[in-house]
Formats: sequence, structure tokens, C-alpha cells
Amino acid sequence: MSQTDYLRRTGEIEHYFDRTALDAWKRLTGDQPVSGIRATVRKGRDDMRQALVSWLPADLTGWRILDAGCGSGVLSFELMQRGAEVVAVDLSAQMVAHARQRAHELEHSHGRAKGSVTFHSGDMLDPRHGSFDAVVSMDVLIHYRSADAVRVLHTLAERCSRSMLFTLAPGSRLLRAMLAAGQIFPRGNRAPAIYPVEPDRVVSDMLLAPALSSWAAGRSHKVSVGFYTSQAMEVIRS
Ligand SMILES: C[S@@+](CC[C@H](N)C(=O)[O-])C[C@H]1O[C@@H](n2cnc3c(N)ncnc32)[C@H](O)[C@@H]1O
Repeated sequence: MSQTDYLRRTGEIEHYFDRTALDAWKRLTGDQPVSGIRATVRKGRDDMRQALVSWLPADLTGWRILDAGCGSGVLSFELMQRGAEVVAVDLSAQMVAHARQRAHELEHSHGRAKGSVTFHSGDMLDPRHGSFDAVVSMDVLIHYRSADAVRVLHTLAERCSRSMLFTLAPGSRLLRAMLAAGQIFPRGNRAPAIYPVEPDRVVSDMLLAPALSSWAAGRSHKVSVGFYTSQAMEVIRS
């Protein structure tokens, strides 16, 4: 993807999460009960978050972790409770404002966490965020085409010393072909599409880069609950 294409894509995603989907996303990730499709998506996402955090040590004291595309911050909060210093970044300034507010409320209700979280609005690839022990990115790369997800992962891996955990949207060949033919998303409602990929292929393509020769594929875990299907992938540095 050229830099111009990347900026166009991140602009579409930012617009979508900052405006169109903001309230729905707040509800989905909030504490109030939801029903129907939303309830299955919430359950699937809860399961996925638990799977991701279970791949990291219980005590994350001393770990600097990037939550790339943090949304409303739910994963960041869990990592912080385990002692990590979390850098949480999202394109949507509104989402980040909401996440900051929730962090504040959490501190009041649960007391000071072992770790810390700082929220930033902007691009997760901004080099000013520095380097990390681990990068987590839940349900973010699902918005990028396979080749673009691979490039994003390369960039993040160069700044990461231990492990990267991310989710991808697994899709059948038929689904991918239909999406490529533009038959699934109604016109005018295409951004941000979810791009189904072959998760193992994304990881193997990522690991082809000579600069990533010290990295290897780790665990993978698929979560499928109602309308939510997502696959967690782990890559680790030896
Ligand atoms: C489906 S939401 C998931 C949010 C969060 N990770 C979670 O699981 O609750 C995807 C988020 O990724 C963010 N995002 C996508 N591309 C990004 C980028 N290049 N830099 C920062 N955030 C990004 C979007 O703004 C959106 O908030």
C-alpha cells in the first residue's frame, strides 16, 4: 500500500469510528446490558480478550505494551491491572476521550492499578510512540487488506522485543471472492469494511521479511460466537 493509500484508509477508519460508529461502540464495550446480535458480539469479544491476555504473563510489571487501535480501552485496562505500562493509541480522538474518561472512572471505583495507561489519538504506526516489549491489536487489522496488514505488522515488529498478539478476520475463499467483487457491503456503507483473510498466510508472509528472521509463529485461537468470528494470532521473538 502506498503512503497515500494508507492515509486514505486510516482517514476512512477514523471518520467511521469518530462519527458513525462511536455511540454503538461505546454501548458495545460499556457495562450496560445489550441484547440480540450485540450480545453475541460482546460475548465473543470478551472471550477473545481473555484468550489474548492469557498468552501474556500474569504479572506484566516492567512490560511496556502498545495497544494498537485501543478503541474504548477495554484491553488496555486489563493489561494495566496486571502491571503493564500501556501506551494506548487510536485514530479516533472521540474514542480516546471516552477511554480516558473510563480510565478515570475505573481508578475511582477500583483504586490505583498496578500499572499505568496513557492514551494518544493518532496513528499506531507513529514512531514517536517508541519501542515495546509487546504489541497487542485486537480487531484492528480486520479493517485492512491482507497485504496491508502484513506491512503494518512488519513496522510494529521492528519496534517490539518480545511478542505480538493480534486478531484477524478469517474468511472462506468464497467470502473473500465476494468481497473482492464488492457484493457484500451495500454501496455507500463500505467503510470500514472488514477484510477476511487467511490468518496463517498473513503470519507466514509477515515472517518472510529478512528483518524479522528472529521472529516465529506462536499460538492461534479462533473465537466464533454468533455474529462474531475472529482469530487470535501470536508471533514471538526468540
Ligand atoms: C473494531 S475497533 C477495536 C478497538 C479495540 N482494539 C477493541 O478491541 O475494543 C478498531 C479500532 O482500530 C482503530 N484503528 C484502526 N487503524 C488504526 C491505526 N492505523 N492507528 C490507530 N488506530 C487504528 C480504529 O480507530 C478503531 O477504534
